[in-house]
Amino acid sequence: KNIVILISGRGSNMEAVVRAAQAEQWPARIAAVISNRADALGLAFADEHGIPTAVVANKDYPSREAFDAALQQVIDGYQPDLVVLAGFMRILTPAFTAHYAGRMLNIHPSLLPLFPGLHTHEQALAAGMKEHGATVHFVTAELDHGPMVDQASVPVLPGDTPATLSARVLVQEHTLYPRAIRWFVEDRLTIADGKVIVDHNK
Ligand code: GRF
Repeated sequence: KNIVILISGRGSNMEAVVRAAQAEQWPARIAAVISNRADALGLAFADEHGIPTAVVANKDYPSREAFDAALQQVIDGYQPDLVVLAGFMRILTPAFTAHYAGRMLNIHPSLLPLFPGLHTHEQALAAGMKEHGATVHFVTAELDHGPMVDQASVPVLPGDTPATLSARVLVQEHTLYPRAIRWFVEDRLTIADGKVIVDHNK
């Protein structure tokens, strides 16, 4: 199976996915890493690992529709079975999300449906949460709302700041996301009634 990963920055989740795919010998290859920013740090890692990279800069396009259309064309050039959003910081148009329905995953740093959108760690602290975490979900038109594949939680500790809390969550993301993606490439995931069923007996 072909996986295309989209990033905007650091790319630590992309890195975790690349390493897991290699170490666990997934029946899949990372066909490309694509960024909407030429300065995304993660591009260097992909390059060093022999993974094709591409930049489709949103600032070069007059509208969200034009950007998404150009991005879709580049992605589809790699014939992906799965598109993985890994810190890809763009809101996607309904046409784009429909095109990849059932074959695009995202990781969001909160226990959805709590705290969609930005600044999730600040939101969790402001709400006085005792637990926080991350969610892997299929992408639909509504931001951070698609069918959930898996979640990981961490405690919120006294004295936590957004930085300490996000670091604790990120450690979990790096095992949560590769595992969910592996389930996808092993054909273990089914969506029924808007919910994901994971087949653990394959
Ligand atoms: C992660 O916290 C992810 O959940 C969120 O953006 C961050 C990306 O980090 N969507 P990285 O680029 O994978 O290091």
